[in-house]
Amino acid sequence: MEQTKKPRLNQDGITIHSKEDFEGMRRAGRLAAEVLDMIAEHVVPGVTTEYLDQLCHDYMVQNNSVPATLGYRGYPKSSCISINHVVCHGIPGAKIPKWKNDKNNRKDDTLFEGDILNIDVTCILDGWFGDNSRMYVAGKPKPYAQKLIQVTHDALMLSIDQVKPGNTFGDIGAAIQRYAEAQGYSVVRDFCGHGLGRVFHSAPNVLHYGNFGTGPVLEEGMFFTIEPMINIGTPHTKILSDDWTAITKDKSLSAQFEHSIGVTADGCEIFTLSPKGLFHPTY
Ligand code: MF3
Ligand code: CO
Ligand code: CO
Repeated sequence: MEQTKKPRLNQDGITIHSKEDFEGMRRAGRLAAEVLDMIAEHVVPGVTTEYLDQLCHDYMVQNNSVPATLGYRGYPKSSCISINHVVCHGIPGAKIPKWKNDKNNRKDDTLFEGDILNIDVTCILDGWFGDNSRMYVAGKPKPYAQKLIQVTHDALMLSIDQVKPGNTFGDIGAAIQRYAEAQGYSVVRDFCGHGLGRVFHSAPNVLHYGNFGTGPVLEEGMFFTIEPMINIGTPHTKILSDDWTAITKDKSLSAQFEHSIGVTADGCEIFTLSPKGLFHPTY
């Protein structure tokens, strides 16, 4: 579609969107959330991540959208599926690496009982990018995994409470860091959230740690993601030889949730709310 107006940038180089732009993001965000709702019942022990990715791909295409990750900087799939100690950008269909306490004999991309996984999908609908991710569990989680998932979810939602005009991006990161570290977890520094809209990744980098009252000031019309990655062990990560898969250096478990949101006059709108109320996993 043709873009009629040049986007307005504020003094920090962050795009300020119009009231009409919210409708585009609302539709893209809803579809991205529907993909994650659709996939929930398919995440069971014995299923392959290749199959889960295919279902996500088909759902996006059948609903007139384009999977944004497919071919993005050479990325080969329509979703990222990050299992156990994989922090982000796990490639569906790839052999699942073993985490620290893994008792399973992993030969391929098949899920085992108790695996925790993040599924991250971004769809492009009428030129707008809807980006979101959630945690799922194959079967029943171990109590320590369930707690990590709960804290990561709550850290994201607490940070969203900070989103209103006049607050800062530092308030978002500080809310996540304060909560996660108080629970004894660490915040990954090597990846961040991002502005989005008619582009996948734009200014600013949305850090998931930091200090209250610092960073760019939030303004009505900003669109961005918040997508904290929280680890049981240290925050450090490394990239596998496929050049995508990021794992925790100490091979301890990691969790992530992501929403796409827009700043409104008095708060924010979450574009990727789950239509079925499934954002947090049910066990
Ligand atoms: N959806 C991811 C994000 O949250 C981006 C994945 S890019 C990919 O920003 F190439 F790894 F798919
Ligand atoms: Co994102
Ligand atoms: Co994402």
